[in-house]
Amino acid sequence: TAAEKGGFDWFMRKEIYEQPQAVADTLLGRYDAEGKLTLDEIRISPEELRRINKIVIVACGTAYHAGLVAKYAIEHWTRIPCEVDIASEFRYRDPIIDPNTLVVTISQSGETADTLMAIRHAREQHAKVIAICNVNGATIPRESDAVIYTHAGPERGVASTKGYLTQVVACYLLGLYLAQVRGMKYGDEIKAITDELQKMPAAIQTMLDNDQQILDLSKDLMDDRSFFFLGRHVGYPSALEGALKLKEIAYKHAEGFPAGELKHGSIALIEQDIPVFVMVPPQGRDQLHDKVVSNIQEVRARGAKTIVLVEEGDDSVNPYADVIIRHPKASTLLQPLLAIVPLQLFACEVATLLGNDVDQPRNLAKSVTVE
Ligand code: G6P
Repeated sequence: TAAEKGGFDWFMRKEIYEQPQAVADTLLGRYDAEGKLTLDEIRISPEELRRINKIVIVACGTAYHAGLVAKYAIEHWTRIPCEVDIASEFRYRDPIIDPNTLVVTISQSGETADTLMAIRHAREQHAKVIAICNVNGATIPRESDAVIYTHAGPERGVASTKGYLTQVVACYLLGLYLAQVRGMKYGDEIKAITDELQKMPAAIQTMLDNDQQILDLSKDLMDDRSFFFLGRHVGYPSALEGALKLKEIAYKHAEGFPAGELKHGSIALIEQDIPVFVMVPPQGRDQLHDKVVSNIQEVRARGAKTIVLVEEGDDSVNPYADVIIRHPKASTLLQPLLAIVPLQLFACEVATLLGNDVDQPRNLAKSVTVE
């Protein structure tokens, strides 16, 4: 009903605007007074967590993209090898897992059949399973050794938004907790990320306060047929997720690519005026910044219309960008929390302008309970 949508036209749009609060709620109560993470819900002993020598993340759809983002952070902070698998592929490839493997399963609903089958398989092999889930008491957390709830509040739009952001944050908390339990030695960096995480709700709010630019852009691009999204490192899964949003609700052909891989094939698809969204890593703090700027030049030289997501104060892209979307400064690993917001809003607005049913897109279900 209209009242449930709180004045918004769609649940999805409402949920996009709830993201600052949702992320704050994911972080709430998870640190003690000294700034140490207290993930009491992880009922796997520190000894067992210290024995983990491999992490496998399994999930579907948007949750899979959250897992792809998390891999970079978890490997960086813990130095434990981490792979990410699509749940429907996982058990059928006879994965190498044992009691020292930590399987992290991500599911907003906690009811996705592919994901459930994947964790059943993992537990048969005696791996430890931690679920990241939004729905209290759902099947997947009940069948896991432990659960970290995202506390995003109910998500009704089929296209996941606050579910996604809070999954990334919960995975980060898990990664930081593993680093803490395992006594990783770069305390300063972990402290800095911890402090920065607390500032994310305000930074996400800044993205939402600048929504008019995205609404205008949606009008300009709503009739385009194909869209590309490019990024490197964590920008790559952000690109995949930006493309998925547009496919799901706007029914547009959209693809996410690793920006550096484009030249090895897909650049052949670039034609005059095709919109290409590019995520730029932080200038001066990320070795990939200049490489991404060259990637923008490459597609622009072939006629692409470039829509560049870049932090405040970085003017290096100005000559090559048709549209510049600014976000507050953030370290590389936290950029995905900001960069996805305009892409969600863009998909929502394009779909609205096209007259689509944003909350109930064709052929999709919020929770898929068949394999
Ligand atoms: C369905 C939804 C997607 C969602 C995926 C995984 O396909 O349409 O939006 O990302 O399931 O859902 P889960 O509840 O497991 O996160």
